[in-house]
Amino acid sequence: MLDLKKQYLEIKDEILYMLNEVLESSQYVLGRNVMELEQNIRKYHGMQEAIGVASGTDALHLSLRSLGIGKGDEVITTPFTFFATAEAILYVGATPVFVDIEPETYNIDRARIEEKITERTKAILPVHIFGHPADMEGIMEIARRRSLKVVEDCAQSFGASLHGKMTGSFGDTGCFSFYPSKNLGAYGDGGMIISDDSGVADGIRKLRNHGSKGGYRHECLGYNSRLDEMQAVILLVKFKRIDEYNRKRREKASLYCSLLSDVVACPHEKDGAYHVFHQYTIRSTKRDLLQQQLRENGIPSVVYYPIPLHLQEALAFMGHREGDFPVAEQAAREVLSLPIYPELDDGDIRLTAEVVHRCLKG
Ligand SMILES: Cc1ncc(COP(=O)(O)O)c(C=O)c1O
Repeated sequence: MLDLKKQYLEIKDEILYMLNEVLESSQYVLGRNVMELEQNIRKYHGMQEAIGVASGTDALHLSLRSLGIGKGDEVITTPFTFFATAEAILYVGATPVFVDIEPETYNIDRARIEEKITERTKAILPVHIFGHPADMEGIMEIARRRSLKVVEDCAQSFGASLHGKMTGSFGDTGCFSFYPSKNLGAYGDGGMIISDDSGVADGIRKLRNHGSKGGYRHECLGYNSRLDEMQAVILLVKFKRIDEYNRKRREKASLYCSLLSDVVACPHEKDGAYHVFHQYTIRSTKRDLLQQQLRENGIPSVVYYPIPLHLQEALAFMGHREGDFPVAEQAAREVLSLPIYPELDDGDIRLTAEVVHRCLKG
């Protein structure tokens, strides 16, 4: 689906130079490179605070904990996302309350949020799925009116924006994943939280380091969730190029659209949205046949996500059943993500489009 080696070879000299500097510095965890990365990402989003952590999952988990969300609370989120979104809510003892999605963007449907708000609701956790911003203006309006916290899951949306405002900068916290396949990916695990709330940020800094601000004084139970210096330098090298990487993803997406829009439903970009195409996801009622023919022609494709969260075995205790979230369920039956990454060859896109045409037209 993506060729990380191609990108590595383009930046290899710089990466190896930086890694060597870290190795010779003997400072491997939460050092000056993590601080520099935090500064860069904070400024890029126009925020006051940025805190590096060990993963995107931890970014969500520690955000919820620092915001005081816990046992008995409800957090409204989408059923059409990676499992970690709901896991983070369950880690703090809260209950995920699902709201169906918009069919065009696959993001949480803002118009259906209010009917799910109860006196237990404490937060909304939208996900900018596949790199398309959720309707943050509408979500923030509801959150302000109903006094709810907002945690943005930006694992797939680094660099995306809505009317010029970056994803991650709308809510109380914005949570990023640096998993290698992400738009800004490390060569291992990593994550970051951005916020304008210094109290919440200080809480997260403590939580990532065993409940300590240092000096072996532990004010609360925390976690070991630190970002290491090796990942930080890799991310610093790639961060310099992230806008260009996202621009290239958009060019690839636009080429796919021009070749495919007559045979399948192509990704939609709403007015004012800057989609960063973490995934290029088409939909078709003949999805399984299409995937099989792509496979036979040596073209990879992946179904993100074949089972919406409310139907996952691990969440069976919530008592959901098929039909509860029909838009998400239909998406799960029809979506197919095609290869997309900045270095993807245009010739490969044309070849993929030919196979799709042969399959669906012929
Ligand atoms: C939407 C979403 N949320 C959360 C995560 C979790 O991030 P990580 O794998 O860095 O823990 C991911 C990453 O896979 C994701 O795609």
